[in-house]
Amino acid sequence: MDIQQFELRKREHIDQALDPRNQAVGRTRLEEIHLSHEALPDLDFDELSIAESCFGRELATPFFVAGMTMGHPDAASLNELLAIACQERGWVMGVGSQRRQLEGRSLPGESARLRRSAPRALLVSNLGISQVITAKTSEIRSIVDELEAQALVVHLNPLQEALQPEGTPQFRGGFAALERLVRELEVPVLVKETGSGMSARTLEKLAQVGVAAVDVSGLGGTHWGRIEGARAPAASRGSQAAQVFSEWGESTVDSVLAAREALLKTAHPRYCIWASGGVRNGLDAAKLMALGAERVGYAQPALQAAMGGEGVLHRWMEQQEFELRVALFCTGCATPAELRKKEGVWSRGRS
Ligand SMILES: Cc1cc2nc3c(=O)[nH]c(=O)nc-3n(C[C@H](O)[C@H](O)[C@H](O)COP(=O)(O)O)c2cc1C
Repeated sequence: MDIQQFELRKREHIDQALDPRNQAVGRTRLEEIHLSHEALPDLDFDELSIAESCFGRELATPFFVAGMTMGHPDAASLNELLAIACQERGWVMGVGSQRRQLEGRSLPGESARLRRSAPRALLVSNLGISQVITAKTSEIRSIVDELEAQALVVHLNPLQEALQPEGTPQFRGGFAALERLVRELEVPVLVKETGSGMSARTLEKLAQVGVAAVDVSGLGGTHWGRIEGARAPAASRGSQAAQVFSEWGESTVDSVLAAREALLKTAHPRYCIWASGGVRNGLDAAKLMALGAERVGYAQPALQAAMGGEGVLHRWMEQQEFELRVALFCTGCATPAELRKKEGVWSRGRS
């Protein structure tokens, strides 16, 4: 694929992600989760703290911006805006796939510029599993180093790769490649889905690999089957299949619960559970924390807010933080850690 085609594809991804038809609305199953109301919390609102540590660093929030697009001119300014805001507010920032950098075809100095714009941000590098399977650890290390990233996340997107005409659905050897990376890379290795979630079986295997965190990125928000379907020529094989698979995936709620179960079954070092996929407000985030998520992320809503400029982005982030505090107060929990531990704080029923 040449550079123009690549940039066009990335722009199409942004446009399509902002189209509500490509959001699997109502499929997170968060509507089924009820947090029990504490009418007399033994707390003052002002004493609540949403600060949480991440990779040895204390951050002001338990949120992250999930990795989005890198590698084309429009993305650079959006990423800088997001990175600076994440640094100021204490959010983790995942960058988009750095595959192009691995192939030596990135915009010159893109990562270094992003790092210079937010020198204190906790940044997470991003590569797809098919690139990780074929690349040398030294090549991956240089990508992490150029961004001065604190961690690397490897994304899993089998549905998208299978539907995309130019996709790379070569995942054989993925678990072994992850094991090698965990052993050889100096920074923590995370794994994420991209909006189709993870089953208990996948999560049990990931628990054995020794990754530091798993972002389940479940069904209920941005859906790559729908996006690739919208990009495919009408009536093509890809567009028809995309309709068939337009609801494909494990919900964000089921994925987090499966991640928790998988941890109970493994004797290996535990991964942190991160959750994204259809998280659209601070109450959604609080519910996922009650289910066990240690960090909760947003992709499409963060992109949408960033497109409104710095002021809109900060107001949107502050809103998420405020809503999480309200949820903590009304469940009688002073911190997200208390919410995760509180017996009986959540229940599940039909909405
Ligand atoms: C425009 C856009 C580009 C994305 N690019 C990447 C990517 O390069 N790497 C990745 O791991 N995930 C990527 N994602 C997936 C997100 O990180 C996230 O897993 C998914 O969008 C679900 O979250 P959401 O429902 O909040 O959007 C992208 C998402 C969007 C909206």
